[in-house]
Amino acid sequence: MVSTLRVPIDKKALIDLYKSVRRRTMEIVAPLEIEDYVIQTAEFMSPPRWHIGHTSWFFETVLQAHKPAFRVYSEDFLYYFNSYYEGFGSRIERPKRGTKSRPTVKATVAYRNHVDEQMLSFLESTSDPTIWSLVRLGLEHEMQHQELLVYDIKHLLCDQFEVAMSAKPQSVVRVEGMAEIEGGLMWLGYAERGSSRGSSPTVKEGQSGDEFAFDNEKPEHQVFIKDFAIDKAPVSNGDFLAFIQNGGYKNFRWWFSEGWETVNREHWHAPLYWEIHDGQWLIRDFDGLRPVSERLDEPVCHVSFFEASAYAKWLGKRLPTEAEWEKAACYDSNGVKHLFPWGEQIPRAEQGNLFENGHWSAAPVGSYPQGVNAYGCHQLIGDVWEWTTSDYVPYPGFKSEFDEYNDKWFVNQKVLRGGSFATPQLHIRSTYRNFFHAHERWMTSGFRCAQDI
Ligand SMILES: [Fe+2]
Repeated sequence: MVSTLRVPIDKKALIDLYKSVRRRTMEIVAPLEIEDYVIQTAEFMSPPRWHIGHTSWFFETVLQAHKPAFRVYSEDFLYYFNSYYEGFGSRIERPKRGTKSRPTVKATVAYRNHVDEQMLSFLESTSDPTIWSLVRLGLEHEMQHQELLVYDIKHLLCDQFEVAMSAKPQSVVRVEGMAEIEGGLMWLGYAERGSSRGSSPTVKEGQSGDEFAFDNEKPEHQVFIKDFAIDKAPVSNGDFLAFIQNGGYKNFRWWFSEGWETVNREHWHAPLYWEIHDGQWLIRDFDGLRPVSERLDEPVCHVSFFEASAYAKWLGKRLPTEAEWEKAACYDSNGVKHLFPWGEQIPRAEQGNLFENGHWSAAPVGSYPQGVNAYGCHQLIGDVWEWTTSDYVPYPGFKSEFDEYNDKWFVNQKVLRGGSFATPQLHIRSTYRNFFHAHERWMTSGFRCAQDI
């Protein structure tokens, strides 16, 4: 069972959140053997040792900038653990993170402990709101890396990773068909608390409120959408198997040109982690190698934007825009916007399959009736990130709140929504904009389709 994270409302709560987020990272890597920490199995993944150091490096940059008389721990560590921040000096190239055996895991953990000591004494001594917001950003950053650790450990070890997993729930309702949703003007993006315009909900104590949102979710602004229909459930393994068996990966007509090139260059025949043995498709997951026929009702996972788009075209449908997805996930039947399909409260385990549920996998469609939205759509939050057809670009009026965090990625990527079984409960909102390149699929990515009506 993983530790619980709570929203910080004062200094003590922020310090508690700091401790619990930092502890959870080490809980995730705890089952690894020492050799596992340093291996890089692909250019797009990072060795676990790098993640535990890099998330500490992030806090060290806060200390460097704001803590009086702070001394850098090691110039070599600054070089190895910087990810992509030009403003923080030179760094090792990403594909080479697994080519170094130093710093050792032991030295990295010592570095991590040192940064924690420094950070905790610093937090006790300051009430500067700038520092608090930087620390909160650092904790959200660490939660992002916790999710990346799940992707990377899966790529590294998959069913060899010996982690305690809780049993997946059973489907309790049949979910099929599409929901028809009215269009018109809608508010897209995150509503700042106290905002005099837009859809800012009334926030009560104990609710997630606007404690945190990334700059790329703001400002909330109006957009016009047409009436549309959206799948009530994410596309399942069974649905996607039909596409494969119908020759979907062999027919250029369903694919974007760049997608078709990728299919042929990478020899794709199925989602990542699918294997064919004696003519039978199996999925290799944290819980072993099992026939797809045993997992037909689970949302399909590890598909690229190209694969999601090809499937949708094959069915005569399309992917939703992020505005359509957000309309479905946030609006109730009275036209009032909320942070989640059920209201303002942070997700509970009964409402969606997030990291705290402990399944390490998507759960069958129909397992979370308490997470249903006003239109009958299930599992919008959790299970798998859902591809949208929207480009990851700044919203009108965007203001960068932190250099090189979100703004430098506003090109050539697609938006995904909703979080996954690897996302911490505290980290997700319906307005959260995740983003990846169209060909990427090592993350927990799935989708649902939409249609014009
Ligand atoms: Fe990072």
